[in-house]
Amino acid sequence: MRGVLKIENVSKSYHLGKLEVPVLHDINLEVQEGEFTAVMGPSGSGKSTLMNLIGCLDRPTCGKIILGDRDTSLLSDIELARIRGKKLGFIFQTFNLISRLTAQKNVEMPMIYQDIPRQQRIKRARELLDMLGLGDRADHRPGELSGGQRQRVAIARALVNDPEILLADEPTGNLDSKTGREIMEIFNKLHSEGRTILMVTHDQGLAQNCGRIIRLKDGRIEDGKNS
Ligand SMILES: Nc1ncnc2c1ncn2[C@@H]1O[C@H](COP(=O)(O)OP(=O)(O)O)[C@@H](O)[C@H]1O
Ligand SMILES: [Mg+2]
Repeated sequence: MRGVLKIENVSKSYHLGKLEVPVLHDINLEVQEGEFTAVMGPSGSGKSTLMNLIGCLDRPTCGKIILGDRDTSLLSDIELARIRGKKLGFIFQTFNLISRLTAQKNVEMPMIYQDIPRQQRIKRARELLDMLGLGDRADHRPGELSGGQRQRVAIARALVNDPEILLADEPTGNLDSKTGREIMEIFNKLHSEGRTILMVTHDQGLAQNCGRIIRLKDGRIEDGKNS
């Protein structure tokens, strides 16, 4: 199996004025292609901080994050942004769609940054919306969609550039349990097709679905073994 992610001795502190607040301590983790990993842990344990570091939305205070064969600590901010757009797909608890744009345009957005021609963008976004059962909602704005439909638009958006890793930070956290299970079905299907997924969840039942569970406590990994 091919390693898609390697985290080496990563620590992260935030600076609040003069105060340094350590949040992650000496994290080590490897993820292989095709793995479906749940990240669990109490609120404030550093799960989102870790996801943001893996997602190249932020940089570690020390240590390395290696995506495929690229050591991201050696990259400039511009190179990092390019990797983020090409190799990673992000799904958030609060969907983070652009409210004035239709579902179709929201899904097209990451392809604009990758300079994909317009016709190709339209076709690819449409295919993904169809795949997620939203073909008849392409012209709707987020405000005209249910929570589950919004999250499916966000999943389509995360998939458009065919990312090597799908990162989902509590993707079912704002959904009722039935809709949450429907969203999990989509992740299960993507995993069965070979996608590599890292998902933060508070739901033990949903985590059991994944091949592997990582538990964070006070910024340290408690248990990264296969379960
Ligand atoms: N941008 C930030 N600046 C300062 N402190 C932060 C910031 N983001 C998170 N924290 C702190 O880091 C800790 C971990 O937060 P977070 O990663 O969001 O945890 P989780 O996602 O597990 O709930 C918390 O104590 C939080 O207050
Ligand atoms: Mg969080």
